[in-house]
Amino acid sequence: MLIVKSLHIIFMVTWFAGLFYLPRLLVYHAMSDDQASIERFKVMERKLLYGIMTPGGVLTVASGLWLWLSWGFYGGWLHAKLLLVLVLLGYHFWCGKLVADFRRDRNRHSHVWYRWFNEFPVLILVAVVFLVVMKPF
Ligand code: HEM
Repeated sequence: MLIVKSLHIIFMVTWFAGLFYLPRLLVYHAMSDDQASIERFKVMERKLLYGIMTPGGVLTVASGLWLWLSWGFYGGWLHAKLLLVLVLLGYHFWCGKLVADFRRDRNRHSHVWYRWFNEFPVLILVAVVFLVVMKPF
């Protein structure tokens, strides 16, 4: 089990690398008006989303389900954690839609909006880690 849990934490860090960096790229993309920068951000966002963030998310969920279903974890902490993970998956898919909007030059949000949007995963990370380590209920 400890190997699976170690992999789970490694995959989670990989996922959050994307969840933290992709919205930051969108902040700078929304501030850009020269074509060279705009095309460069499109390439960086696509590679980050499909090369790091999505594989990290899929492997975090798969290894988490493996831990949960193979070793019979249970408790309110796990239900609360799963709810937060669903919210995080929603945020991930929203990032995918925003990247697609930028790819079509149809972004509708300001860089200030993306700066607030960028903060949200921090709240989920703090809540999930305290839940799973301390198991308060
Ligand atoms: C469907 C998604 C997920 C499921 C089913 C799941 C399930 C689990 C389970 C059963 C454990 C073992 C708990 C223990 O050994 O005490 C675990 C450990 C852990 N999970 Fe997840 N997890 C999921 C996603 C996540 C996410 C998104 C994060 C980060 C935000 C995360 C962070 C952790 C951490 C840090 C541990 C190690 C806790 C410890 O060693 O005490 N998990 N997870």
